Amino acid sequence: MPSEIIKNLQWRYATKKFDPNKKLSDDQVTVLKAAFNLTATSYGLQPLRMLVISDDKIKEQLPPITMKQLQVRDASHVLVFCVEETISQQFVRDHFNRVEEIRNTDRKILDDYEDYLLDYFSNKNEAEIRDWITKQAYLAMGNLLTVCAAEGIDSCPMEGFEPDKYDELLQLKDLGLRSVLVMPVGFRAEDDMFASMKKVRRGIGDVVIDLD
Ligand SMILES: Cc1cc2nc3c(=O)[nH]c(=O)nc-3n(C[C@H](O)[C@H](O)[C@H](O)COP(=O)(O)O)c2cc1C
Repeated sequence: MPSEIIKNLQWRYATKKFDPNKKLSDDQVTVLKAAFNLTATSYGLQPLRMLVISDDKIKEQLPPITMKQLQVRDASHVLVFCVEETISQQFVRDHFNRVEEIRNTDRKILDDYEDYLLDYFSNKNEAEIRDWITKQAYLAMGNLLTVCAAEGIDSCPMEGFEPDKYDELLQLKDLGLRSVLVMPVGFRAEDDMFASMKKVRRGIGDVVIDLD
């Protein structure tokens, strides 16, 4: 008997056709926002922001810059996973300020770790930081894919879009951000033929190596 979460993961699929008339409730959107914020990130720095688009006028402009994929027009909401353009010293300090405040931790206990991270990021070049930061966005999307499945919300993870054009349309540069991934969420259309297709996966024995 498969566990509930495995059944949920079998149920989910990369939705190709959303029902434009079915909308997420406010509570469902609230769950997705909270789950995004609870995503684990490297060092806990959360160099991420998530744009939640529900405005039809914006959604209608997305297919031409999303490889003509209509999910971004028809889904109830479109989530855009964004990353900070860079990690400033202040960004790292703000994190430790939060730790101090929320956990009431003596700053002296945090000092060494804070200095280590300030040093760590100041020694990385732009490409290395970009690489690290982009991985954090993939983690967030992975987390939300599972949360959507558990909540009975359909979704489609997407790399097939033009990040520069999204950044321009959504004025992300003004927020010091760039888009990395897109995920329309909502409810599958009744005639989405992909919903009933069997999952194509390698065998568990082919992907998992047990070292007994
Ligand atoms: C990072 C990533 C990017 C993807 N980009 C797209 C995309 O642009 N359009 C799309 O229809 N599906 C996209 N997919 C969906 C995959 O093709 C799909 O997850 C995979 O074939 C497995 O099928 P399933 O998710 O339905 O089980 C993407 C998936 C991932 C993880």
